[in-house]
Amino acid sequence: MYSVPKLKSYSAAALDKAANGVKEELHRQVEQLATAKVKERSGKAAPDLKVFRDEWMARTNGVVTQLNESWLKSAPTKHKRDVGKVVNELRTYITEQVGNALEGLPSITRVSDAGLRRILGVRDEDLDHLDITLPGTRRHLGAEHPVIKTLHQIVSVFRNLGSSVQEGPVIETDYYNFEALNFPPDHPARDTQDTLFIARQESKPQRERLLLRTHTSPVQIRTMEKMKPPVRIVIPGKVHRNDPPDASHSPMFHQVEGLAVDTNITFCDLKGTLDHAMKALFGSSVKTSFRPSFFPFTEPSAEMMVSCFICGGSGARGSEPCRPCKQTGWIEILGCGMVDPNVYGFVDYDPKKVSGFAFGMGADRIAILKYGVDDIQLFFNGDVRFLEQFG
Ligand code: PHE
Repeated sequence: MYSVPKLKSYSAAALDKAANGVKEELHRQVEQLATAKVKERSGKAAPDLKVFRDEWMARTNGVVTQLNESWLKSAPTKHKRDVGKVVNELRTYITEQVGNALEGLPSITRVSDAGLRRILGVRDEDLDHLDITLPGTRRHLGAEHPVIKTLHQIVSVFRNLGSSVQEGPVIETDYYNFEALNFPPDHPARDTQDTLFIARQESKPQRERLLLRTHTSPVQIRTMEKMKPPVRIVIPGKVHRNDPPDASHSPMFHQVEGLAVDTNITFCDLKGTLDHAMKALFGSSVKTSFRPSFFPFTEPSAEMMVSCFICGGSGARGSEPCRPCKQTGWIEILGCGMVDPNVYGFVDYDPKKVSGFAFGMGADRIAILKYGVDDIQLFFNGDVRFLEQFG
């Protein structure tokens, strides 16, 4: 049976030391209990939890009571405040540790109900007030955000085709966001990206300056740097552009990018893969169509459209014009192309031996189309009445 030593001095250091002594004893006993518990599994007698609890918590002579009597009550008036603070802290600590130690011990499940009540200090009278017919605490379940849900759906289509998922930093260097993707310094193609730059980077060489990535394409470079071909990856992520927010623009949005590099990959592989992916995402009856475009890191480059899955490609819904496809019957959905040989130069791939394709699409835009949402801002301004519809 542990008895609390008398206080010899009331200096802060002495109080601290005395309190630590009590804690050390507590830790020792908790450890002993845990060891006994492990031994119980191999047939040894179960530790006596009541003895442990009483030693610390019993009203008559438990450690907590001893602290009150021998430390607090007998302290000279001018030290009462300091001692009181230490005793209070110790009491909270001991109660918590003893509670944890008892709870953490599975043998508690094997003591009788009455024994359990005693260990936990629940009095029989208290049980009369327990009304088990009262409703429990309701916890609201969260749900996946519609944009993230769409992002995951797109990713899973490509994972099913054998791509692995790669991610990269949102704060990027000029090198990965532009230079290694074959945007030369001062090339006008950089302007189309409406970049948000991190302030005060001027003293660094241009390639090291930080910015918010404007697309997920830098992860193509980061992956090819660390992986030899063949590479088949899908890259979901957050990107930023300096676009003022309106119904169809947000300075923050999400992209899913894909990259496949191997021997003998052709534009046919690109078309076949994307055509399959669009049918998986929007239904087997959608058609795809490609038209020439430009990206510095792909050559040739293309924009891909899918036949409007809202009006079925007719451009009209009954007598009403179809708004999502602007009555054209086609919806522009992504940018793509064959990886430009210059890009391989940056990652030490041999452009004579390998070829590949890449594509990138906006997940938010796809979510807008899929769910018939008319304002992208609704996704991000956190109104639960909007978001809970997707739960
Ligand atoms: N990164 C391009 C963009 O954000 C999209 C793209 C990705 C185009 C891959 C071609 C290949 O506009």
